[in-house]
Amino acid sequence: MILIKTEEEIELLRNSNLLVSKTLAEIAGILKPGITTLSLDRHAEEYIRDNKGIPGFLNYKGYPNTLCTSVNSQVVHGIPSDYELKEGDIISIDCGIIYDGYYGDSAYTFAIGEIDDEVAELLRITKESLFKGIEVAIEGKRLGDLGYAIQKHCEDAGLSVVREMVGHGLGKNLHEAPEVPNYGKRGKGIKLKKGMVICIEPMINLGRKEIIQQKDGWTIRTADNKPSAHFEHAVAIDKDRANVLSTFEYIENKMENNMYLHFKI
Ligand code: MF3
Ligand code: CO
Repeated sequence: MILIKTEEEIELLRNSNLLVSKTLAEIAGILKPGITTLSLDRHAEEYIRDNKGIPGFLNYKGYPNTLCTSVNSQVVHGIPSDYELKEGDIISIDCGIIYDGYYGDSAYTFAIGEIDDEVAELLRITKESLFKGIEVAIEGKRLGDLGYAIQKHCEDAGLSVVREMVGHGLGKNLHEAPEVPNYGKRGKGIKLKKGMVICIEPMINLGRKEIIQQKDGWTIRTADNKPSAHFEHAVAIDKDRANVLSTFEYIENKMENNMYLHFKI
C-alpha cells in the first residue's frame, strides 16, 4: 500500500530531510585524506543527537552504524571502519535520521582530492541522472518513466545501472512502498500521485552492472571492482514539479571551503 502524505506530514518530512542534509554538510566540512570512515560516522551521530534527531540507520535490521560509507567499488551500505580515505578515492555517504517520528534519507558521493577523469564523469552523470528522475517525479507520470529517465541518461554515457538495489517510499518508516527502480520502461509501473513521498537513489557503475555482497552481510560492491556512484534525494510528488525535501545546497557550500574537495560537480 502506498501512503499519501498530508501537507503537515510533508513539512515534517522536510524537517527530517533537512537535518540529514545538514549532517551531510558537516561531513563535507571534515572530509580529507587520512580521515577514517568511522570518525565520519562518530561525527555524524554526535551532530544528529545534538540536533535532537535519532540516527535512522543505526540498528535498522541490525545495521551497526549511523552512516553508510561506500568507497570506490563499494556501491552502497559500506560499514564505517578504520579505513583511511586517500587522495583519488570517491565515497558515497548515505545518512538517515528520524526526527519528530518521520525519516529523512539522502546521500552524496564525494571525491577526495584529484580523481581520474572517467570517475569524475561517473559522478557528474550519476548526479545529473538523479535530477532527470526528479524532473519526471510529478503527478500522472509512472514509475517506469522515472526509471527510464535515469537509465537513459546513464547508459547513453556508457555507464551501467544497478538493478538489485532500488529507491523506496519514505515516511514513518525508512522503507515504504513503492520500490523505485533506476531503470524502467516509459508508460509502465504505478502512476505517481500528489502526496507520495519517495527516495530516488541512482546507484551507477563505471563498469558492469553486476554487484556482490561482501562477507560482512551489508556492503555491496561491484563484481568487476570498478567504481560506483550514488546520490539520493527524498521528494514529494506534486502537480507540476517535484517538491524536493532534502537539498545538496548545504553540502556544496561546505565543499567550497574544503580544499581537499576541489572536484566540484
Ligand atoms: N539509503 C539507504 C537505503 O535506503 C540506506 C539504508 S542503510 C540501512 O536504502 F542500514 F538502514 F539499511
Ligand atoms: Co534510501
